[in-house]
Amino acid sequence: MAPSILSADFARLAEEAAAVSGAADWLHVDVMDNHFVPNLTLGLPVVEALLKHVSLPVDCHLMIEQPDRWAPGYAEAGARNVTIHAEAASAPVRTLRAIRAAGARAGFAVSPATAVEPYEDLLPEIDMLLLMTVEPGFGGQSFLDMVLPKLRRARAMIARHGGAVWLQVDGGVDEETIERCADAGADVFVAGSAVYSSDDPARAVRALRSQAERATAHAAWARGR
Ligand code: DX5
Ligand code: ZN
Repeated sequence: MAPSILSADFARLAEEAAAVSGAADWLHVDVMDNHFVPNLTLGLPVVEALLKHVSLPVDCHLMIEQPDRWAPGYAEAGARNVTIHAEAASAPVRTLRAIRAAGARAGFAVSPATAVEPYEDLLPEIDMLLLMTVEPGFGGQSFLDMVLPKLRRARAMIARHGGAVWLQVDGGVDEETIERCADAGADVFVAGSAVYSSDDPARAVRALRSQAERATAHAAWARGR
């Protein structure tokens, strides 16, 4: 479970992170540059500041142009995971290796209209594949069911390679949609508004986790795991 602070109060980031620290696994931080996506959030100085004040591992989702230039800096700063977008990277192999060399896990994201199959040969270079379930850029959008078949294909692709890559979903993940994601093969769940619009964000994370665990227990892809 990786709550997204995009939906948190930006004037109280450390407190908002602390509110989920007992319940979440990672804190998801959305970096947007107003070029790759039509929204501007925060960058490396804020991530560096957050890293000093949060106990959860930080999962950085870079929705920026030129990730080849910027991604290694987030890993060097101490982010646990750094995810770059397929649509923005021009040298993904080099950048994914640079992220790993700097001590972070390397994530690779595809937007809803981007096929995942062309990246099968990249799997040994990555620790996490992120399938966006909304168009990147904003919190609070509706989940795109059209991504579910791709999620199943991505899970099968990962299984063929030994299963050692996390499969993350991000966008519109809430109590209505998380079970469909788990059933289709996701094992890492980002949720922004579903967590931070709740009066009790930690309770929201725990509730989502138990829904996901229940759905995973019945999912065909997870049998024999
Ligand atoms: C959107 C971001 C998400 C966003 C999800 O581009 O990548 O992480 O915070 O927000 P919800 O869960 O509200 O869709
Ligand atoms: Zn995100």
